[in-house]
Parts: sequence; C-alpha cells; structure tokens
Amino acid sequence: MKQIVIEGGHPLKGTITVSGAKNSAVALVPASLLCDEDVMIDNVPDISDIDALEEMLEYLGAKVKRMNSTIEIDATEIQNREIPEKISKKLRASYYFMGALLGKYKVATMYFPGGCPIGARPIDLHLKGFEALGAHIIEDGNKYTIKAEELKGSNIYLDMPSVGATINIMLAAVKATGTTTIENAACEPEIVNVATFLNNMGAKIKGAGTSTIIIKGVEHLHHAYTEVIPDRIEAGTYLIAGALLGDNLKIENVIPEHILSLLQKLKQMGVKMKLEGDTITIRNSDCLKPVHITTGVFPGFPTDLQQPLTTLLTCCNGKSTITETIYENRFLNTKYLNQMGANIHLKNPDCIEITGPTSLSGTTVVATDLRAGACLILAGLIASGTTTIQKVEHVLRGYENIIEKLSNVGAKIRLEEIK
Ligand code: UD1
Repeated sequence: MKQIVIEGGHPLKGTITVSGAKNSAVALVPASLLCDEDVMIDNVPDISDIDALEEMLEYLGAKVKRMNSTIEIDATEIQNREIPEKISKKLRASYYFMGALLGKYKVATMYFPGGCPIGARPIDLHLKGFEALGAHIIEDGNKYTIKAEELKGSNIYLDMPSVGATINIMLAAVKATGTTTIENAACEPEIVNVATFLNNMGAKIKGAGTSTIIIKGVEHLHHAYTEVIPDRIEAGTYLIAGALLGDNLKIENVIPEHILSLLQKLKQMGVKMKLEGDTITIRNSDCLKPVHITTGVFPGFPTDLQQPLTTLLTCCNGKSTITETIYENRFLNTKYLNQMGANIHLKNPDCIEITGPTSLSGTTVVATDLRAGACLILAGLIASGTTTIQKVEHVLRGYENIIEKLSNVGAKIRLEEIK
C-alpha cells in the first residue's frame, strides 16, 4: 500500500509540463489491436493504467516495446482468448478490448471492467451498439462473450453521449461491412484523438468531435503513428493548484480550447491567469468569488474536475455549489475535506454546497477514487501541518509523476510505501 505525505503551505513556482491524456492513451493502446501491421504511439503517460493495458496486450501475445513516452505495439500475431477478470478489473478502459477484439476477430470474451467506485457505471450502451452491428452477447455473471458471424454497419443512437460507448462502437465498426452512424455520440477531445489514429491506419471515420460520427468500414488497417493529446484533466488539476498557491506557476502543454469551461469558472472566481499559446501562468489570489458548477458532457464542465475544484471552492468568500449530473457517487471526497476543516454539506444527492473561506488543517484521509485523490492532494498543499493521504494507488493510475512534478515547483510532498 502507498500513501502520500504533504507538508502544506509552500508556494508553487516554476513550470509544470502536462503529460499525454490518460483517457486518450487508454483507448489508443487497445485500438492498436485492430491494426494489421505494427503501430507507434508517442506521448504516452507513464501511469499504472497503461501498465495494466500492456499486461493485457502481452497476455494475448502482442509484442510491446516501451521507451520513455513511446510505445510500439505489434499485435499481428496475437491469440484471441478469454481475458481473465483479475487483469480486466484493474481499470475501466479494459472495456476497449471488447470493441477492438470484436472488430478484428468477431469475438471477444472478457469480464466487466474495473475503475473508480463513483457510480454503477453500466456498459449497456456499449453492448447495445455491438448488437446493432450484428453481435450476439452471452452474459455469464460478470463474463461477456460477444460474437458475430459478420459485423454490418448500422445506425446507432446512444441514449446518452457516453465516451466509452462512442469509442468502443467506433472500434467495433471500423472493419464492419458498410456504414455505421453513431448519433448522440460523445464529443470529448479523446474521441477525436482515437478517430485520428484509426484514420491514420486507413479507417474512414468522419465527424469525430461532433454528435454524429460516420464510419465507413474498411478491410485492412496499416502501420500508423499518433501522439496522445495533452491531458486536459491533469492540466486543470495543476491550474487549480496554481490558483491555490501559485507564485506565477507556469502550466505548459495545455490546449486551452479543451478546458474552456474551467477557465471560464476560474475567471468568474477572480483567479489571475495569463494565456500565451499553450502555456498558462497562474497565481493565487485573495478574495475569490463563489461560483456554481454543473458538470456535463464536453464542452460542459468535466465531472473529472469537479472534485479537484472543490478544494479551491473552500477558499472562496461565500457559498458555491457543485451539481454532479454524470455519476451518482462522486462526492466521497467531501467527507475528508470536512475532516480537514471545510464546510461542505450535501444539499441533495447530486448537489453539494461549499461555504468558504475555511482554513484546512492536515490529518489522515483516504483517496476513495482517482480524482478524489487529486482533490485531497490539493487540500494537503494548502492545509496547515501534515496531511497523509492513504490508498493513493488510485492517483498513480492517472497522474504521471505527480510527486516529482509538484516537488519540482516547491511542494513538500512524498510517496511512502506502507506495509
Ligand atoms: C469516461 C472517462 C472518465 C470520465 C467519463 C465522463 C475513460 C477511461 N474514462 O468514462 O474519466 O469521468 O468518461 O467524462 O475515458 N453510461 C451508461 N451506460 C453505458 C455507458 C455509460 O449508463 O453503457 C452512463 C454512465 O453510468 C455515466 C455516463 O453514462 O453516468 C457517462 O459515462 P461514460 O461517458 O461512458 O464514462 P466512461 O467512458 O466510463
């Protein structure tokens, strides 16, 4: 077990470079299975979710070479077999093996994916999409066998714009016969990154980034290269760190268009920022104004940033609210923020009210999920005294070198192994 220990109150000065996006990389790596030749992906973050995907690829017999942030994958000679639950439950994105293996071999056998405990997180929309393409699904407890004689293009309307279902259906449809249309598709930048990679291999996908994606099936996918886009959630997390403690902290490798909803809210709060190309310089300010946030699908306010932002809202003068519309269980972090001295109460099951400003004091808290962990790290950075955050394996799944990145700009933070 690992824990993070932080001595709070130190200003953050210098530069943090944003890594490749976790949610893109975890889809690009499984997408490589579809290719009939080898592929190369650059700017891959060094996080444990990628280690788990590498383990899945190697389990199937793919050749994987990782050097710094580059990964080369040759999946031309894999053996398509059942993926054991102990591997697939390591992360949510293991579900992309369903779409990729089905798309290439017309059969995939694996278990319900893992991931953060932030809600029920069903995969019904993924499965309905596969069925629309002609697959039959046999459910045996947690195990799914998804099989098709032939995959045929189809018109698929998603009941909600799910990121995972949009990408998974795209993966299953690239080699189907005929044309697939996904309506009410999710528009997140990670979807564009995956579609671009598949198109680099010779796929014919149009409309990624809009709510209608059209995929014309192709027979062969050839060698391709792509780069993972910068992680908008990591960028947002460090911007919030800058708004809390920045002494002209520079966050570089940011695509501002990907985080406009956060930038807008920071501006409304009165946070001082300067945008220059892909760099944002940010510093802490007194007298922040409270704001009201409602999470939504892209380009709305990302659910993945509401927990980190909660720490900043404890510093605002007055009452802020966060309404969570995507997940039903994403306020577990507030219990621990309150233990540190915050004043947060649940107005109703999907809305919290944060009354500030409050001073936080260090104590021992638990990272219940990835972004809750990020929220508590930010809280530890501003708290008086020492904060110990337990179960930080969640955090290491998604933030590359977070300890080094924060230490390099002046934070007193360390990772400890405990027995
Ligand atoms: C992805 C991200 C996650 C982010 C989320 C929303 C990855 C690996 N994870 O998760 O970080 O928080 O998008 O931006 O990219 N739903 C269904 N049925 C389905 C699929 C989804 O009801 O078949 C619901 C979910 O329960 C949730 C909502 O749709 O309420 C959005 O989920 P979705 O966009 O699919 O999120 P993930 O792909 O799991």
